[in-house]
Formats: sequence, structure tokens, C-alpha cells
Amino acid sequence: MNFSRFARSAFDALAKDPHPSPCVLGSDDTFGNLRSSLPAGFLFGTATAAHQIEGGLDNDWTDWERGFHADGSPHVKDRTVSGAACDSWNRFDEDLGLMRHLGANAYRFSVEWSRLEPAEGQWNDEAAERYLSWARRLREAGIEPMVTLHHFTLPRWVATQGGWMNDRTIDLLASFTERVAKKLGSAVDSWCTLNEPNVLMAMSYLKGVFPPGLKDQRLCAQGLARLIRAHGRMANIIREYDTVDADGDGFTSRIGLAHHVRIFQPASRSPLDRIIAGFMDRFFNQAIIDASAQGRITLSIPGAVEIDEEVPNLKGSLDWLGINYYGRDHVRADLSDPSMSEQYVPADRPVSDLGWDIWPEGMYQVLKRYSALGLPIYVTENGIADHRGEKRSVFLRSHFEALVRAARDGVDVRGYFHWSLLDNFEWAEGHEPRFGLYRVDYASADKRREATPAVETFRQIARGLGLEPEG
Ligand code: GAL
Repeated sequence: MNFSRFARSAFDALAKDPHPSPCVLGSDDTFGNLRSSLPAGFLFGTATAAHQIEGGLDNDWTDWERGFHADGSPHVKDRTVSGAACDSWNRFDEDLGLMRHLGANAYRFSVEWSRLEPAEGQWNDEAAERYLSWARRLREAGIEPMVTLHHFTLPRWVATQGGWMNDRTIDLLASFTERVAKKLGSAVDSWCTLNEPNVLMAMSYLKGVFPPGLKDQRLCAQGLARLIRAHGRMANIIREYDTVDADGDGFTSRIGLAHHVRIFQPASRSPLDRIIAGFMDRFFNQAIIDASAQGRITLSIPGAVEIDEEVPNLKGSLDWLGINYYGRDHVRADLSDPSMSEQYVPADRPVSDLGWDIWPEGMYQVLKRYSALGLPIYVTENGIADHRGEKRSVFLRSHFEALVRAARDGVDVRGYFHWSLLDNFEWAEGHEPRFGLYRVDYASADKRREATPAVETFRQIARGLGLEPEG
């Protein structure tokens, strides 16, 4: 199939304002008909990332978090640092208890490279043992561990060698992957190689708000190509070194990546707005998918970069596709900006605390669009910054509804991971945005976790799926 052509027509469909989604779960709050709509073994859980919750880390973000942009504004908007974060490194028992209370049967978490390999070739056995014990304990609790190998951060020693601007980073991440696959393979079958290569490169090399804070289209595209190559290498390594079928389903590993998909809606009928929105859609949403499907990376920014490269072992590297869906941007052409556009949300739209458009219909459309790949899909992230916890229940319910509708319309969607279990360090935004089903009291000595109202919504859905929330 020609995916670029497909992407264009899907994009045209997205650009039309859709009708509100019909309610498929019923209005009686029972969620009782879910099992008949979703595949057996549907994974329903939460997602986190090491740097955002563990605390006590030292990596390429550590100095960055304390720094300032050239205009004097802080790298982290609210001037907090990741610091002790939720102290999840030391509070796994408690967090596991929260997952049991939710009735979750899956947990997506990341292993932190800088913790496991603090210096090149130096391996932290104790930390590796702890991650292994987490995976085992999750499994014992009936919670499928899904392990992300790279979620945005790099060890300092990798960053100082050039990070994603250096081909060697691919080799270094490949050796790291081999060690982790050997160590955790007995307890882990679900692997997510990379989290959101497109977001990482856009934030680091286009918007300049993640380290190293540059704004250069060429570097952005080159870094993205390296990440795609890294994904291919990692997938092959996991297949080779994870030799244990942890859950007895006949597969030793199931490999995917978490791909952030945004809907870019042209601000107007002007051809320029439409061209730029279409370009962003292809670069941001489609390039990685095309590359993994076809084994060939093609990235083009007219006048800046043309990459067209066959990558051995990339084709077939995905057993499943992870979709991180948060919402939609309206796009107005602005050729003076490195991203060639201004992205905004119209004033009449409902928004999260971060001003992101709340648009559940997009979940349906994105799932439909990517089902054309023919791979099982997991929603590996979806959530809302909502510090009062007032909007999260409706957000969860309406997005899950859209997912169920997509499944009923034939999409092979196998799981949903809510971002996030806990409030956490939200990168350049700091600790202020609150994404947690559980609110974290950062000021308290025990980083107290408190349920938000959406915990009940999550439990209702879990019951509808035949899971058994505790307590
Ligand atoms: C994703 C990212 C997560 C989290 C989330 C909420 O892009 O993977 O780490 O920050 O957004 O903003």
C-alpha cells in the first residue's frame, strides 16, 4: 500500500469537522458491554516514564532543568526540577497497590539508561535486579509489564558524545538493549523500543525546549532518521536476546514503539495552511510509520534536508503499533518559524490545563487511520493535565468510548494505557501540570498519593472488562 497517499486522503477526511461521537457505552455508567466489544486479553492499564516519577536521576536533563534560554526564560516553566519526583524508585509496593486498586491488568514503565549504565560499559546490577523484581511482581499480580527502553532521556556520557547527532548513539543504545533484554527477558514479553521519536526530535531540535535546545530543521530530520534506525536495531536485538516466553502464549517478545500522533487541522481553506498542515502530518505522523512498514526512511524538508535511505532489518520490526493520542492542533502557516507554522487551539474549544484541545473524536480517527497498517494497536498513552481532577473522568470515558467504537468498526485495538498513574514531572512544563489518576502531594515526606475522581471511572471500565479492582 502507498502509505503517503493513504495519509493524504486520511488527512483530508480529518480536516472536515466531524459530528460528535455517538455514545457507545450506554448512559447507565455500567460499562457492562465492554467484553463483547473488545478482544479477549485486552490490556487496560497506566503508563509512566522513569525520569518523570522515579526521582534521584542524573542524566542529560539534570543540568538542563536548572538552566535558562537565551531570552532569560527558564528551561522548565515552573522552575521545578525532576529531583525526587514521586520517589517511585522506592515506592514500588505502594504504586503496585494503586494498580491493583484500579483493577489494571497492564503497566507500561520505562527503564532508565543512566541508572543502569551510569558510565560507558559500567553496569548497575542492583538497579537491574530491582527492575526485574518489578516485572516479576507485576506479573504475579496479573499485571502485564510493558517495558519502554528509551523514554526521552540520555545518560550524560551519551549526550556529551553528541546524543542523537552521533551515529554511535545507535550502537550504544543497541548494547544497552541487549543487556536489558537478557536481564528482563524472563519476566517481560512486551517491549516498547522508543517513546515518541517525533516529539523528542521536535522538542529538542525544532522548538528548542528539550536538551540540547536547538532550532534546526536539518538536525531534527537527521536525529529522527537515527532514532528510526535505532528502533530497527533494537527490535532485532530483543528478538535475539529475549528467549523466554514469560506468559506462555507462544511468543518470547512482542515489539512496538510508542508513536505520538497529533491531528493537524488547517486553520483555514487557504492553500498555504493546508499545504503546511499536510506537510506536518507527513513528517510528524507518517514518516516513522512508513519507514517501519517499508524498511526505507524518506524524510524531506524542501530546501533543508532530503533523506532517502534503505535500512536493513527495519521492515517487519513492529509486532504492534503504540499510539499516544492527546489531541489536535490547528495549523496556520508561518514560514518564519522553524516548524513553518503556528499551532493553536481556537478559543471556543474545551481545553486541558495545558491548553490542549480535548477532542475524543480524534482517538477514533487516529485508530481508524493506523489500522490500515494491519498491525495490532495499543493506545500506549492518553491523558489530561487537570489539576482539580474535574475533567479527567469525562476525558477518560469519552476517549475510551471512541476506542470501543473503533474496535466495533473493525480496528484491531488490543489495549489502552492511561497517562498517567501518578502526577509526574512534565518535562519543560515542570511539576505543575497534573496528569495523575492519583494526585501526588510533592511537599509531603512520603509523597502521598491521593485518588482523583477518575479512579472510580477507571475501576468501572475495568469491571466492564471483567477485571477485578481490589478494595
Ligand atoms: C507524552 C510523553 C510523556 C508525557 C505525556 C504528557 O508526549 O510521552 O512523557 O509527558 O506526553 O504530556
